[in-house]
Amino acid sequence: MPQADVIIVGSGLAALMTAYHLHEHKNVMIFTKTKTRESNSWLAQGGVAAAIAKEDDWRLHYEDTLIAGAFHNDEQAVELLVREGPARLLELVKEGLQFDIDEAGQFQLGNEGAHSRRRILHAGGDQTGKALVSFLLEKLNGKVTVIEDESVTDLLISDGRCLGVKTRTGTHYANAVVLSTGGCGNVYAFTSNAPPATGDGIALAYRAGAVVSDMEFVQFHPTMLYVDGKAVGLISEAVRGEGAILVTEDGRRLMEHVHPQRDLAPRDIVARAIHAEMTRGGHVYLDISTIPHFHTRFPTIAAMCEAYGVDVNGGKLPVVPGAHFLMGGIQVDLSGKTSLPGLYAVGEAACTGVHGANRLASNSLLEGIVFGARLAETLRNEQTNRLECAFYEGVPFTKRLPSVSNIQTMMTKHVGIVRDEISLTTAKQWFEQFSIYELLVSDWSFFSDEQLTAASLLLNGWLITTSALKRTESRGGHYRSDYPKEEAYWKKRRIERRKEELLA
Ligand code: SIN
Repeated sequence: MPQADVIIVGSGLAALMTAYHLHEHKNVMIFTKTKTRESNSWLAQGGVAAAIAKEDDWRLHYEDTLIAGAFHNDEQAVELLVREGPARLLELVKEGLQFDIDEAGQFQLGNEGAHSRRRILHAGGDQTGKALVSFLLEKLNGKVTVIEDESVTDLLISDGRCLGVKTRTGTHYANAVVLSTGGCGNVYAFTSNAPPATGDGIALAYRAGAVVSDMEFVQFHPTMLYVDGKAVGLISEAVRGEGAILVTEDGRRLMEHVHPQRDLAPRDIVARAIHAEMTRGGHVYLDISTIPHFHTRFPTIAAMCEAYGVDVNGGKLPVVPGAHFLMGGIQVDLSGKTSLPGLYAVGEAACTGVHGANRLASNSLLEGIVFGARLAETLRNEQTNRLECAFYEGVPFTKRLPSVSNIQTMMTKHVGIVRDEISLTTAKQWFEQFSIYELLVSDWSFFSDEQLTAASLLLNGWLITTSALKRTESRGGHYRSDYPKEEAYWKKRRIERRKEELLA
């Protein structure tokens, strides 16, 4: 059985950045449940935000991040992100990563919601994630062990320390286990997330006893292409950054009196405005008629529209919001340590608090780059000797699991863009008929892949719902119609979850 110094679960940008900065010092093994090219990072369109323009400054990026995050952010984490970001990016460029440049050979900088400057670096027009992931995979080729199509079902915990992972093929010990499994957008019916984003790392960590926090903060991206009553794929915010505007069926400008930044207001505000219009029975369109060379600037989006029979030249793309990003997750400190020794987390699966209550556009790839590199530095200096001990199979889960589509329907209907006590209580009661306690103490290696997905989504959905019930205010991505205002009491107050809450 292959063993490693460091096991990384997941293969998105944060996972690969950690491996990139670590592989010369440690023996690294990556487990990914599908393929390395199937992740949210791979799909990322807009770009990477960094204050590199002459007229920009990290302090402006810092301020924009806090405003978008509704001041719930961990300020130290934000400062780290925006100050270290430009240097980390330029390091990658020096190593050969290519971003789009203009005729003068300067980086083309895009704009997105809630940014006060143009600061979004992009590659291949709207294929930034693909460029970054391909670049790192190429650099790592042959230098780390990558095991595809292998789900991690359980963490190996002994005396309160994580010693490795259990997969379908057996137990794998390591000095350190890194969870970098992304978010859980698939807990909703409409999502921009790749199919593997089912909150697996969050479920693993919570079951193992690590602290999970801020789960009520889910970001809904305002603009997914809407075809035949379904959200079929993301239309980047960069499209609005280039001048597209949101209009109603009768041609009214949707964001006109909603926010001073109008179409480029923070995402939570734009998503709620579209949701309100659709709840009234209307439809919302992205008017792209003012964008020259749309096909060249946004080739992936143009191809997607054509594949779904939406005429890009017609100038109006039907849109609907979809679950996009989880601001909460496995609680970590600024070096990536969770509350359990031996267990680390990075990227969307982790919660440093950097995004506050609502992530600023294009800060997520930056998070993967900055915090992945920092975690590698932490792990390089860890001296722990590998510990091994005998693990026996636990008990299988013998109760009923809901179907994935039932979980998605419940979350979309009751724990979506707008929630209240009645809707959240309905969802909580529904989730709790499925024996959450037994789920926590059972051995998931007995599950089929389909059951694993359902179990993971069940736990994530329940954590989001019950955290949302506790937060009696509205802030960022968490909006309660029965508590529509921000409350000073809740600012920067995290709702921390531990499995002991159920075992007591
Ligand atoms: C987008 O391109 O709109 C998504 C990028 C992001 O989530 O920051």
